[in-house]
Amino acid sequence: DLGGYEHYMLKEIFEQPQSIENTMRGRLSLDDATAVFGGLNLSPQELRGVDRILLTACGTSWHAALVGEYIIEEMARIPVEVEYASELRYRNPPTPRRTLVFGITQSGETADTLAALREMKRKGHPTLAICNVVGSTIAQEADGGIYLHAGPEIGVASTKAYTSQLAVMAMLGLYFGRLTHLSFDQGYRIIESLQKLPAAVEKALESNDAARKIAEKYQAASNFLYLGRHFNFPTALEGALKLKEISYIHAEGYPAAELKHGPIALVDEQTPSVFIMPRGVVYDKVMSNLEEIKARRGPVIAIASEDDDQVAKIADDVIRIPMVDEFLQPIVSIIPLQLLAYHIAQLRGCDVDKPRNLAKSVTVE
Ligand code: F6R
Repeated sequence: DLGGYEHYMLKEIFEQPQSIENTMRGRLSLDDATAVFGGLNLSPQELRGVDRILLTACGTSWHAALVGEYIIEEMARIPVEVEYASELRYRNPPTPRRTLVFGITQSGETADTLAALREMKRKGHPTLAICNVVGSTIAQEADGGIYLHAGPEIGVASTKAYTSQLAVMAMLGLYFGRLTHLSFDQGYRIIESLQKLPAAVEKALESNDAARKIAEKYQAASNFLYLGRHFNFPTALEGALKLKEISYIHAEGYPAAELKHGPIALVDEQTPSVFIMPRGVVYDKVMSNLEEIKARRGPVIAIASEDDDQVAKIADDVIRIPMVDEFLQPIVSIIPLQLLAYHIAQLRGCDVDKPRNLAKSVTVE
């Protein structure tokens, strides 16, 4: 049921305030100022003993893992590694004894993610699944896990499952942080931020008209760059992937500061750069990267905070997003990028929900 939308992808983009709410429901305890997960099947004593976390996944889920690395390391001070499942399964890395492994997969059926998890389980590590599809293979095989409760995702390009994965990452950061060194007060404030998230996503969806206009302007481009830093570096990767998948336009995501190490050679008047630059610790740094692009006549689309009056003076187009805590910015900043990809693909006459060569779950190696 498309519910009045032209495509499932658009419907699923607009469902995100609700799907994120569903992911968090019953999992935030103000009494204990922590997150609550019912299905980890590991005691707090066992989890407290973890001194390394390995996140493994493919595609968009791998981008969620990258955000997870930033959040969990910052909140819990536990070292986190992120591995492509397809690499992990054959790479045989040394895995310290108390490593906890998470497989992140919307479908729960991705062949490489299943194989990587099996290999880690065979090595004796506890394995947990973060997945959306109830009763999927990974849910049966892992020692425990966390369901996204995002509802079925029909569009091949992942949207609402991604933001739910990010919400789980934030809650895991809170949970492990509270097991280790975060105070009650700090945990409480993190929960308050999480509770404001669905409303912020609702607000970010108001960028739909702006995204449509920008899509009209740039629909004929052959290349796009996506640039962001810190928590929004993975957003740059995910924004570029969304555009590639459904519009077949070549797009690359980079940490903004890597520009000068090579990709800046791609910049010309026909190559738009999308800067993900909400206010935060790296704002000024990203702004100077933006200036480098403008100095080379590259068109710039900025995804910026609603109160940012500096950026409009220099960027060609600006999409506004509401302010949230920095660790939650990826959940809000990906919304206009999903919409931008959607509108560009739609204007180019692409089959948005069933892009060529792609399948919803990749059950072969
Ligand atoms: C991108 C996309 C894919 C999947 C990847 C992993 O929009 O949907 O990159 O994220 O194939 O799929 P899951 O999460 O089901 O393991």
